[in-house]
Amino acid sequence: MAPTHRPVYDEIGAGYRTRRHEDPRIASAIWQALGEAAPVLNVGAGAGSYEPRDRQVVGAEPAAVMLAQRPPSAAPAVCARAEELPFGNKAFGAAMGVLTLHHWADRARGLAELRRVTGGPVVLFTRLPEPVPTWWLHDYFPATARLEASRQTSLTRLAAEVGEPAQVIPVPIPADCTDGFNAAYWCRPHAYLDPAVWRAMSALALIPDTDRAAGMDRLRGDLASGAWHRRWGHLLGLAELDLGYRVLVFGP
Ligand SMILES: C[S@@+](CC[C@H](N)C(=O)[O-])C[C@H]1O[C@@H](n2cnc3c(N)ncnc32)[C@H](O)[C@@H]1O
Repeated sequence: MAPTHRPVYDEIGAGYRTRRHEDPRIASAIWQALGEAAPVLNVGAGAGSYEPRDRQVVGAEPAAVMLAQRPPSAAPAVCARAEELPFGNKAFGAAMGVLTLHHWADRARGLAELRRVTGGPVVLFTRLPEPVPTWWLHDYFPATARLEASRQTSLTRLAAEVGEPAQVIPVPIPADCTDGFNAAYWCRPHAYLDPAVWRAMSALALIPDTDRAAGMDRLRGDLASGAWHRRWGHLLGLAELDLGYRVLVFGP
C-alpha cells in the first residue's frame, strides 16, 4: 500500500544521487552478510545503492522522489513502507535495509514485517548509539546530536523488536568514504560547509535553519583560525574511524 503521509524524502531527497554513492568497502560488508541468499528485498531502497547485482532484488521505497532517482539498471522497486510490505510470508531469501531504520515511523512494526517476508538473514546497516555516543560534528550542531539521539535505537532494543539476537559487524568509515552520509566527511571538515553536501544528509537537512547556520558559522571560523585542527587534527592521519556504524545480521 502506498504511504498515506508525504514521505520526508519527498521533501529532502532531490539531488540525493549527486552526493550519495555506494561506498565499495561498506558494500562489501553488507554483501558478505547477505551471503548467497536470494531473492533479496531492499527496504528503504532509495536510489538503489548497495543492492547486490548478481541476483534477483526487489526494492521497497515510500518516496517518489527517491524512486525517480533509481537508474534504469537498478532492480525493480515498489512504493511501500517497511511497516506495510506488500509481499507474502517468506517471499524473500534475505532482506536488507541501509541507513533507513532511523526514518521509520513504527520501527518495531517494520522489523516484524521484514521478519515476516524473509526466510533467511535480515541485514541492516545502521549507526548504534552505544559504541560512539558522540563525535566532533555534534559539537558544532547540537540539534543534529539531539535529532540523532531521538532516532537511534540500542542494540538490545532492536534485538527485542526483531525477536532474535544479532550478529554485530563493526564498519569503520573510510577517510575517503564515497557515500555522503553525515559521518562520511569526518576527516574532510570543510565539506560540511557545502550546501550540496549537507542537503544530502537528513541529520543536517532536517534541523532548524538557524541551528544549522550557527553551526556552519562556528565551523567555518574554527577552520579558518586553526581551532578545529588543534582539537581534531589528530584524526587527519587515520585511514578509517569507528563512528558506531554496524552491519547487524538477524537470523540464519
Ligand atoms: C538515507 S536514505 C537511504 C537510501 C538507500 N538505502 C541508500 O543507502 O542510499 C533513507 C531512505 O529510507 C526511506 N524511508 C523513510 N521512511 C521509510 C519507511 N517507513 N519504510 C521504508 N523506507 C523508508 C527514505 O524514503 C529514504 O529513501
